[in-house]
Amino acid sequence: QSAEDTFDVRPSSHPRTAEERAEVLSDLGFGVAFTDHMARATWTSDAGWHDRRIEAYAPLQLDPAAAVLHYAQEIFEGLKAYAHADGSVWAFRPEANARRFARSARRLALPELPEEDFLASIRALVHTDVEWVPTSSGASMYLRPFMFASEAFLGVRPAKRVEYLVIASPVGPYFTRGFTPVSIWVSEEYHRAGPGGTGEAKCGGNYAASLLPQQEAYAHGCDQVCFLDSSTNTLLEELGGMNLFVVGADGVVSTPRLSGTILEGVTRSSILELLGEQGHEVRERDIPLAEVLDGVASGAVTEVFACGTAAVVTPVGRLASARFDVSVADGAAGAVTTAIHTALTDVQFGVQEDTHGWMQRL
Ligand code: COI
Repeated sequence: QSAEDTFDVRPSSHPRTAEERAEVLSDLGFGVAFTDHMARATWTSDAGWHDRRIEAYAPLQLDPAAAVLHYAQEIFEGLKAYAHADGSVWAFRPEANARRFARSARRLALPELPEEDFLASIRALVHTDVEWVPTSSGASMYLRPFMFASEAFLGVRPAKRVEYLVIASPVGPYFTRGFTPVSIWVSEEYHRAGPGGTGEAKCGGNYAASLLPQQEAYAHGCDQVCFLDSSTNTLLEELGGMNLFVVGADGVVSTPRLSGTILEGVTRSSILELLGEQGHEVRERDIPLAEVLDGVASGAVTEVFACGTAAVVTPVGRLASARFDVSVADGAAGAVTTAIHTALTDVQFGVQEDTHGWMQRL
């Protein structure tokens, strides 16, 4: 019996037709369409993890007192499955997501899901809905595992009943304009996380905290918000849902170090490896905003890019705040950003050999 068999497949009684599916797959946005099934397991403090199953994608029934709705005891992950030219389907570094999911669970006082259950749930869901994996250029199946406190109880303590689910969404690019530069609003007023907080856990609360500054970014014509560290309000941390890289004219590429308040991105760590192999000196360090602004003005900073599972690699063409509004170089995608985007996606889509063992066949 493989681990996958631990997820009991209970097929939907109302899957969409091939025509309906084809229509959805012909016009992909990000995170708007979902497949016919979802993976699910339940945890109780008495019985541990049980009732692992694949069932019809459907609205959840939740008690209004479910703790997640009140105290946000919730975590999630994001990873993608890719169709290769020969029809095989592969996930990118899913065990890295499984390990981070366990770290996030610990921080939110949720039960850890064993790594083999995380991987088995993904395999079983992708196998069940494999016809939903897009084959169009640049498209993939975004997988969203998440876990939340479902116990109906208003006392503030870790819940004794928890649900784990995985939903799947065929996706195109996160930004509608695809691989074209985005503009970043640097939030000097609001912070996303502080020392000892939940900044390095992937929990919904971090993203909730980013929404008001994100709204401020939109109001100033920007696509994303960048947060500074809460201790000094001077160092770059990360965007609302992506990590950030800065490219120097000297070829050195820097990204904020893992300070405990930023997310340890799987894409971030993969890019650090790929850049090293491309001959760049890479540094994980404190990056003062002032240094980047000076560098953009003097030409010492030639490129800035964002990265994440959803965003892949996205060039940043403009940085703005209440105090400044500057173009990065000529505002176009730079050579280093373009090369790293190609190197990463070539591995993910099976165009280049996977020399790192990052791809897992599902
Ligand atoms: C991801 O890149 O997978 C993310 O989690 C970012 C965002 C969609 C929340």
